[in-house]
Amino acid sequence: MNNGLDLGVEFKDLGRFEVTGADFDKAAFKMPSLRNIEYTSPYMHDGRFNTLEEVVEHYNSGVKMSPTVSPLIIPTIQKGLGLSAQDKADLVAFLKTLSDPGLLTNPAYAN
Ligand code: HEM
Repeated sequence: MNNGLDLGVEFKDLGRFEVTGADFDKAAFKMPSLRNIEYTSPYMHDGRFNTLEEVVEHYNSGVKMSPTVSPLIIPTIQKGLGLSAQDKADLVAFLKTLSDPGLLTNPAYAN
């Protein structure tokens, strides 16, 4: 999906289009799992965001329109999500509930 990181004229990485050649795949990237997202900064395909706070601010106020942006996210573009500072802190706190440090340290999962 294209989660509105860039305007169409700014697409540098064409994402899934490179594989399918379909115009609607321009700037589409795999929607990743958010498990252990706390530990895997930087974020997005090009690592443009260093913190979860920056990611949340992208969805709150930074989503950009383009010919391939996901229809799921278009309704948020004009006015943003309107999250308060508390909402944003709560959302980051929620993302951190997806942390499973045991998965990272358990020798059973080492290579
Ligand atoms: C407020 C709601 C959302 C939150 C908190 C959220 C969170 C995140 C985070 C933390 C990442 C970075 C993952 C990583 O780099 O490993 C991400 C990437 C992504 N999200 Fe969301 N997301 C939200 C809404 C959406 C929606 C509505 C869509 C559908 C359009 C979407 C599609 C994607 C895609 C395609 C990526 C990968 C982009 C890339 O690699 O450049 N997300 N999201």
